Amino acid sequence: MDRRTLLLAGLGLAVGQTDAASARPEAGDVLVRNGDAGKRPLTPQDISTGAAPTMVWAMEPGSRTVRSGTRLNQILLLRLDPEKLSAETRARSADGVVAYTSICTHTGCDVDTWLAPEQMLSCPCHDSMFDPKDGGKVVDGPAPRVLPALPLKIADGTLVVAMPFTASVGFERGLR
Ligand code: FES
Repeated sequence: MDRRTLLLAGLGLAVGQTDAASARPEAGDVLVRNGDAGKRPLTPQDISTGAAPTMVWAMEPGSRTVRSGTRLNQILLLRLDPEKLSAETRARSADGVVAYTSICTHTGCDVDTWLAPEQMLSCPCHDSMFDPKDGGKVVDGPAPRVLPALPLKIADGTLVVAMPFTASVGFERGLR
């Protein structure tokens, strides 16, 4: 292979990795903690029941490409009592772990505030409140729609994406 071909192949690989990093999570992806240079796939035991959200990215397991190419791929994990989950949410959960986008459906701030007594997620920008036990539905504030959920399952003890996001991730202006 000559130098030019090698260079083009390298460029193609780089473009492919960029695409994969910006693509939405897909079935079969594993989850890694935001900032974990070791890219260790998370298990349900890594998430404490009732604790504040853990911010994670999906990772394509084959290439180990972390899908952190866009903030629209930010995911939050919570571990909740399965008995307290609605039937729809329980079906999307894995050992009590539920996953949602962390991008508020109002104007796109990070939904990163955990109201432990109420077991609710809150967006600090305009105080929208979402119920992660019930499909991420809006219970207060100006958010116009639910937080899209990311259905999970367990494979070989590891948390794995079961299906793509249940709805488009994004906010009032700029649905993606
Ligand atoms: S951006 Fe979240 S409530 Fe406005």
